[in-house]
Amino acid sequence: MMAMDQLVKTDEGLVEPIIFSDEDIYQRELERIFGKCWLFLGHESMIPNAGDFFTTFMGEDAVIVIRDSGSNIRVLLNKCRHRGNRVCFFDRGNARAFTCTYHGWTYANTGALTGVPEFDHCYLGELDKDAWGLLQAPRVDTRAGLIFASWDPDVMTLDAFLNDMGWYLDHFMSVPFLGGLEVVPGVQKYQMPSNWKLAADNFAGDHYHFPSSHASFLKVFREFSEQGIKARGLRGRSEGPAYEVSPGHPDGVPHAVGQIRPGTEKYEDDLQRAADLGPEAVDWVKYRYARLQEALKDHPVKPYSFTRGHVFPTFSQIGLSSALEGRGLIAWHPKGPNLTEAWEYCAVEKEAPDVVKRNAILDLMHGQSAAGLIAPDDNENFERMTDNLQSPMGKRSPFNYQMSLHRDESYPGREEWDIEGLPGLVGFHTTEVNQRQFYRYWQQLMSA
Ligand code: FES
Ligand code: FE
Repeated sequence: MMAMDQLVKTDEGLVEPIIFSDEDIYQRELERIFGKCWLFLGHESMIPNAGDFFTTFMGEDAVIVIRDSGSNIRVLLNKCRHRGNRVCFFDRGNARAFTCTYHGWTYANTGALTGVPEFDHCYLGELDKDAWGLLQAPRVDTRAGLIFASWDPDVMTLDAFLNDMGWYLDHFMSVPFLGGLEVVPGVQKYQMPSNWKLAADNFAGDHYHFPSSHASFLKVFREFSEQGIKARGLRGRSEGPAYEVSPGHPDGVPHAVGQIRPGTEKYEDDLQRAADLGPEAVDWVKYRYARLQEALKDHPVKPYSFTRGHVFPTFSQIGLSSALEGRGLIAWHPKGPNLTEAWEYCAVEKEAPDVVKRNAILDLMHGQSAAGLIAPDDNENFERMTDNLQSPMGKRSPFNYQMSLHRDESYPGREEWDIEGLPGLVGFHTTEVNQRQFYRYWQQLMSA
């Protein structure tokens, strides 16, 4: 394997394409990144009661996220300690215990081994059950209702890991001043024959691709608007400045927020759209705006929304640009150097009227979803990039991340908006500062 400092040269804005296809690098990522970082798993609203659980992955490890009988959230490795069979086959449910289908060992929802068939007769009562409970993630925590876990007992706290990004999650994800979010039942899963970093990098700061990758989406929207046709999923796209934010982090953990909208433009946009949904929706948009202003009263800058965000390594958010849109919470699960499985949850604001919730779900599904107007465009690009990564010449030349290189701390235009009070490095235009930071930190973890 090429040395890490040869693979990623962020000072020159160069990344070797082999990092998106190499098996050895991928295996190292499973250990150094997915075995160490805080990973997004889901939302507290998915497991409100004792015994509620859902299953997901941490890297390639299958886990059960469960609220145990004592109401603690635990993350259990979905692997029987006897011979390694899965102990749970369901996406979600409620359970006091899990019984393995192979030889019948039973585990309480705390992970403790409680039942061993023929314990007296075959084991002569001599198995130390306390030592053979399900393995569990040693660190589990929540922020803004979002559940995270890490396999590393010494990982920094979740709040420290998120740092400035926590502020954005608190205000736009958790919305505690609006009663929080709830995830609607179900998860949309789709596979992409490409490396997880292509999707993560896209969400981490690539607004540059939007006009060309999503030209058909923009064209349909324009034509519908010209004809006066209102359609769900074709959201109002305000003109004017939007801001890319690279939340600051002392250890350089590269989270990102994209397309922040200051001012009242998006609010007025929402009011117009709410009028089509009826007075209840209009009242909600007004009420929500007032609560948001109150929540941000100590902040000189009061952004209304942001379009997308990314928490390193694999948690993306989309659809936070409007009071009427569902929030997409996406985990990019790695399934090999050339395969990723997207798991997308849809969250809505809990106190919103039903008409707004229904609209929010449809809006999200018509845009960023497996059969929406947006996600397939990206996936096709990733697939073709991956095809090129398999050929000798295709592997040779580095990818270019040189946009506004050496301007990471001094974007032109920063002074045009008073960014005081808004955490992180705020950029007036699209740059690749976030992606450079992403690969810098990736390199740091992979070299450790
Ligand atoms: Fe689970 Fe044997 S593998 S009880
Ligand atoms: Fe896209």
